[in-house]
Amino acid sequence: MKVGFTYNIKKEIEHEEVQSSIKLNNRQKFIDSNLVENYSNRLSDIYAEWDDEETISAVEQAIQKAGHSVNRIEADENAFEKLKTIRPDIVFNMAEGLGGASRESHIPAMLEMLNIPYTASGPVTIGNCHDKSICKEILSYNGIPNPDFFITESIVNGYPKVKYPAFVKPLHEGSSKGIYNSSLVNNREQLNREITRIKQNYSQPSIIENFLDGREFTVAILGNGENVQVLPVIEINLSCLPKDFPKIYSYEVKWFFDTRENKLDIFTCPAKISESLTNKIEEICKKAYLALRIRDWARIDVRCDSKENPYIIEVNPLPGILPNPDDNSCFPKAARAVGMDYDTLIQTVLNLAIKRYGLNN
Ligand SMILES: Nc1ncnc2c1ncn2[C@@H]1O[C@H](COP(=O)(O)OP(=O)(O)OP(=O)(O)O)[C@@H](O)[C@H]1O
Ligand SMILES: [Mg+2]
Repeated sequence: MKVGFTYNIKKEIEHEEVQSSIKLNNRQKFIDSNLVENYSNRLSDIYAEWDDEETISAVEQAIQKAGHSVNRIEADENAFEKLKTIRPDIVFNMAEGLGGASRESHIPAMLEMLNIPYTASGPVTIGNCHDKSICKEILSYNGIPNPDFFITESIVNGYPKVKYPAFVKPLHEGSSKGIYNSSLVNNREQLNREITRIKQNYSQPSIIENFLDGREFTVAILGNGENVQVLPVIEINLSCLPKDFPKIYSYEVKWFFDTRENKLDIFTCPAKISESLTNKIEEICKKAYLALRIRDWARIDVRCDSKENPYIIEVNPLPGILPNPDDNSCFPKAARAVGMDYDTLIQTVLNLAIKRYGLNN
């Protein structure tokens, strides 16, 4: 088949660009002040969600190895024209989008308009998941546990139902953008500081949640409708973080502390947990997958309270997929645990979409 491949590629950040972004919004100052010693001079998180050439070519090769031709289509401002001209039989979509709160929905919306089949969820599902509040409202309506929350764009005199410690995140970011050690707050002053930081640096409201202090897991799922395959649960071993780090999977940890050279032993897959906890986690994740009308694949983050009751933290309908096993990347890791290598994982996602559309391979 003629497969289109939509993605956003990480740009090398020029020194000058970083400098101007610091000047623009003071972002670096906040990063620096939240990192432990020796982790100071770090890059901005502007392109954190986008993929690098290594991942893009690994996906491209996996599709080619299945006998398809691949047309790379960078998800930039020319994407619509390119899709219209090339008219692929199907598109493998992993574009995180250029900008705006619904950026991840742009390519699926274009493909829907052009009537071109594509992998993964549609624009409504992806948009809903990218707004952490809307996602949680849908989960709550369906009786799926998630931490209590409220959203606010600015600091106010009285907040509803805030319990400390609380956790403050940007309303629509991924890849732990905007989530630093300081996101865990213990009082009103710290809460206000984080709300202001998020507004200034990310121009968006904050979502404030009850802090769940139990174990953390992530669950990779493949499939459609009732026919979904839950891959082995991964535990995020927050106990392996340095003792002066709060127990969160923050931007610092994800991108700077856990590197290829200094690998943290942060994932255990399959997680060492009881059958009953495994069943509970799988059940809420499958329910969330159906309630949000996810297609083909997604990764769902889960955290427990101190009594080991699991709650959904957030849902990723375009999961990260770093190909090198030396990089800690959850979805490929869970796939490897059932003997599914990287190429097979990518081909499985493509085939799920081909089947869903009833196309002839
Ligand atoms: N309510 C909460 N209670 C406790 N920890 C939390 C809570 N919300 C988030 N966290 C911590 O912060 C981390 C990042 O949060 P979250 O998964 O919402 O961000 P994200 O940027 O969407 O992540 P991803 O990289 O998976 O897209 C979680 O992995 C978890 O460690
Ligand atoms: Mg997450």
